[in-house]
Amino acid sequence: MRVTVVGAGYVGATSAVVLAYLGHRVTCVERNAARLDRWLGGEDPLGEPGLAELRGQVAVEFTSEACSIASAEVVIVAVGTPMDDNGRPDLSQLDAATAEIGGLAADGAIVVIRSTVPVGTCDRLQNSTLRRLRVVSNPEFLREGQALQDAFFPDRIVAGGPPEAQRPIEELYGRILEGRDLPGNPRQEGPPPLLWMSARSAELAKYAANGFLATKLSFVNEIANIAHAVGADASAVLGSMALDPRIGRHFLRPGLGWGGSCFPKDTRAFQVIAEGAGYDFVVLRAAIEQNARQLARFAKAIERAVPSRSTVGLLGLAFKAGTSDTRESPAIALARRLIRGGLNVVAYDPGVQQFPDEPRLSVRAALVEACADADAVVIATEWPEFAEMDLTALRLVTRGDLLFDGRNLISPARAALAGFRYHGVAGLGD
Ligand code: UDX
Repeated sequence: MRVTVVGAGYVGATSAVVLAYLGHRVTCVERNAARLDRWLGGEDPLGEPGLAELRGQVAVEFTSEACSIASAEVVIVAVGTPMDDNGRPDLSQLDAATAEIGGLAADGAIVVIRSTVPVGTCDRLQNSTLRRLRVVSNPEFLREGQALQDAFFPDRIVAGGPPEAQRPIEELYGRILEGRDLPGNPRQEGPPPLLWMSARSAELAKYAANGFLATKLSFVNEIANIAHAVGADASAVLGSMALDPRIGRHFLRPGLGWGGSCFPKDTRAFQVIAEGAGYDFVVLRAAIEQNARQLARFAKAIERAVPSRSTVGLLGLAFKAGTSDTRESPAIALARRLIRGGLNVVAYDPGVQQFPDEPRLSVRAALVEACADADAVVIATEWPEFAEMDLTALRLVTRGDLLFDGRNLISPARAALAGFRYHGVAGLGD
């Protein structure tokens, strides 16, 4: 099929390269000149594992021109819908893209909305700007650092729109739905189903998944805090939960909170959607509140333990391991809070070499450099390098003996053996 993808960000570029791999003729439109130049130069500006290599094997035309929309059978919209100041999704990029598509696309073309949008957006577009076309909601469930695996071997493909659009969507994802001749590790469960539903249901399905995952994590963090408060072992308790298939073994790692460019944005937007429908979403509100408290508890424990003007060696800046993405990163929020409290923060992250947005934050190129003369070492991102570091050697370069482990990577016994006073993420007191 002739496919135009609008937006060469994390979802758009991954979709473009994957669809080209499936044999479609794909053009990817990107208006950000810096990002477009890097794609044109054969790079992947997102740093997604495997994406640059795969892009080099397929024919995707990256361009700033939208003219390919006129001859496209399918136009995929993958522009950003960032959170604005009051938690509402900013749809300005979406409205600009769909207005252009509405004027250019051939009658009857399929417009696939992959961006995360409020429930009812596809219906609104179908009845206005995109009246001549067929609008389909097709939310993505890609995890950063694993986008290609999640794209080629999704658990499910969720889509919804006018009945006559189902067949073209089945054709678009052909070999993925058949699980045939794809790069990566096939799921044991076999090929994914196409879950065809209404556009509103598909839009809600995205928020429901991310809202549930965020709520699960907030609950897990509460369990870790309570376990510590009652003298139980959080890892043993959570490990027992993992064996219950109704709970599932993923997303059971307590930490200093969830972040990233999706969960904070999508949970706030979900709240706004519920409020707009006159519904008081008490469970999600509690999950968002708990997440804010989780970080504050951890920060307060550090502030209480070290004199003001002390130096903190901060290990981790990315919102999660395996990515260089610092958007809505709990590690960055922690660094900013410690700096505001008068501490000197020196950071190291294997995926993040600089952080110009916070000039008072020093970033070093090596772990030992960031911790040299530190009064306390703080682990904020779950990089394997931090779980495996030589604590005895580290203790020789730090000034203080405090180790705050925001991702529960280090066993307390191992920390004590190396001469550190250890604080895990759980039960740090109010
Ligand atoms: C998420 C959703 O998983 C994905 O389906 C959606 O399309 C986009 O948002 P992502 O934001 O890339 O993906 O990160 P994810 O791996 O889901 O982790 C989200 C946050 O939860 C991170 O801050 C991570 O550190 C945290 N987390 C995750 C934990 O604290 N503990 C865990 O056990 C797992």
